[in-house]
Amino acid sequence: MSNYHIKHLEEYYKVYRKSVREPEIFWEEIAEEHFSWHKKWDKVLEWDFTKPEIKWFQGAKLNITENCIDRHLRTKGDKTAILFEPNDPNEKAEHISYKQLYERVNQFANVLKDQGIKKGDRVCIYLPMIPELAIALLACARIGAIHSVVFAGFSATALSTRINDSDCRIVITSDGSYRGAKTIDLKGIVDDALVDCPGVKTCLVAKRIHSKITMKEGRDKWLQPLLDNASKNCEPEIMDAEDPLFILYTSGSTGKPKGMVHTTAGYMVYTAYTFKNVFNYKDNDVYWCTADIGWITGHSYIVYGPLANGATTVMFEGVPSYPDFGRFWAIINKHNVNQFYTAPTAIRALAKQSLDLVNQHDLSSLKVLGSVGEPINEEAWHWYNDNIGQKKSPIIDSWWQTETGGIMISPLPYVTPTIPTYATLPLPGIQPCLMNEDALEIKGNQVEGRLCIKYPWPSIARTIWGNHKRYKDTYFSAYDKMYFTGDGALRDAVGYYRITGRVDDVVIVSGHNLGTAPIEDAINEHPAVAESAIVGFPHDIKGNALYGYVILKDVGTDRNHDNLRKEINQIITEHIGPIAKLDKIQFTSGLPKTRSGKIMRRILRKIARNDTKDLGDTSTLLNPEVVQEIMDNALR
Ligand code: WT7
Repeated sequence: MSNYHIKHLEEYYKVYRKSVREPEIFWEEIAEEHFSWHKKWDKVLEWDFTKPEIKWFQGAKLNITENCIDRHLRTKGDKTAILFEPNDPNEKAEHISYKQLYERVNQFANVLKDQGIKKGDRVCIYLPMIPELAIALLACARIGAIHSVVFAGFSATALSTRINDSDCRIVITSDGSYRGAKTIDLKGIVDDALVDCPGVKTCLVAKRIHSKITMKEGRDKWLQPLLDNASKNCEPEIMDAEDPLFILYTSGSTGKPKGMVHTTAGYMVYTAYTFKNVFNYKDNDVYWCTADIGWITGHSYIVYGPLANGATTVMFEGVPSYPDFGRFWAIINKHNVNQFYTAPTAIRALAKQSLDLVNQHDLSSLKVLGSVGEPINEEAWHWYNDNIGQKKSPIIDSWWQTETGGIMISPLPYVTPTIPTYATLPLPGIQPCLMNEDALEIKGNQVEGRLCIKYPWPSIARTIWGNHKRYKDTYFSAYDKMYFTGDGALRDAVGYYRITGRVDDVVIVSGHNLGTAPIEDAINEHPAVAESAIVGFPHDIKGNALYGYVILKDVGTDRNHDNLRKEINQIITEHIGPIAKLDKIQFTSGLPKTRSGKIMRRILRKIARNDTKDLGDTSTLLNPEVVQEIMDNALR
């Protein structure tokens, strides 16, 4: 018998020990008892972190949509699978039952097939948070196509880069999207992107805002009429356990985004298991994760994890500030939400508003509060705990990454005693460790180091699309036979983990993972810019904000600096998206560099965070004089 649902702390420790002692038996039992397979595996796990190669449930045959939809039809056909809450609170919420989801996914799958899409083809999805988005993912999975969702806040350039990197044949988008009181011309962005994407032959367009858009003859097609004519039955493609399910891009320390590849069986088993335990989901609960499906949180914990458990999952189209800053609380009240999962940046923004906006709403349905995406600071934790959970709902500070596919370190509600700012304990199957600068493991408790994982878990990303070497270099080369997360962490006296933040050139801004290199690449395109360096610095609401040091080509030019700042942010918006804009831009005559020409970011970080008492060792600097200039002109 598997321990699918852990109910108390002793049981957690027992299950955890088993998952370390006998990982294959542990996962095999869960896979065996809680999913439907066309054929079971020949081998549970095969792995080698030096290659690296990881295979779970080899030989097994399945389709993930049968696990997320078909198998619930008999007992839960009329249960709401997806509860869609529109941007406009006066527009009716839509309850999509499992039976309706089945029909709509199959229709969409048939439309894709009619467009010539088959198993293994890549499908780019660039949609707002409307039901078609979740349905499009599942439709791809139904026919074995690999979805690549691009968050609909990314710019045309970012979109075309991603489309071309994975050679997508087709793009699914909408005429536009609602965002609070504004509308966004999504189709216009897609049109701009597709100028650079010769491989895309078809663009399917959902109607959402009924705006006037241009449809390119032969390429663009309205989605709805095609769906209306499609059959509601579509035989699922039988997939191998290790067939890719999706690609999702995440930014890294160097220019190009990394297309993380997740495969079918392991991802399904792990997201389902962690959803059940981390949210303590019970059959009639209403679960809401506020993330966008354009990020991994939405893939794993709006779509696949909840649906694999036959849950009701809320999809919210809008923003926390519209029509007012009480919108989240109004939705919890309206739909009697039981589990609520959001990001610290949202909590901090909402904590700044009047408490009346909270107290107007009945939040008594809540049982579990989740937090994800960045460290949650103590103040935000207490505000969330006191005012939203009313001290009754445990806060689940869940640490994970796009690359890990599912939650890795997290309390289990009503099981693990929580401490503010601690992600607490590894989930069953996860073997974290801390490494020091000499690449040695730091044993014992009350220690701090770089967070690595020693042993594979089912939903680890298997490669970077088209670049296995980069996958190896990024995650498996810093430490021998370990997956390196890029985060620092400390382990306290009882073995709880606290994530302290990134130790590489990635900055988490408002919960968004931003590599500084791609932003620097964008800025350097500006004709007046010679060189630039970007670092993060602490920000009240966003967690971190970006600080740019920019060398202009023509020092002493009389160009207006404020205009240049605007132009630089405009370029960033065009290349990446508005989320990557810089809060501060300092023009400088030079950047601190080592003799080998490397920018010493450590110093720039300290100056940006106004922590210049001790700059550390600067003896290897080629141009120490520039440090004083930068400090003198630092922006506060
Ligand atoms: C990075 C991954 C998968 C979640 C969404 C972000 C940071 C994530 C926490 C947390 C402290 C966290 C880490 C991680 N992070 N959750 N609970 N506490 N930091 O996914 O965009 O791939 O970013 O987010 O730095 O490495 P992502």
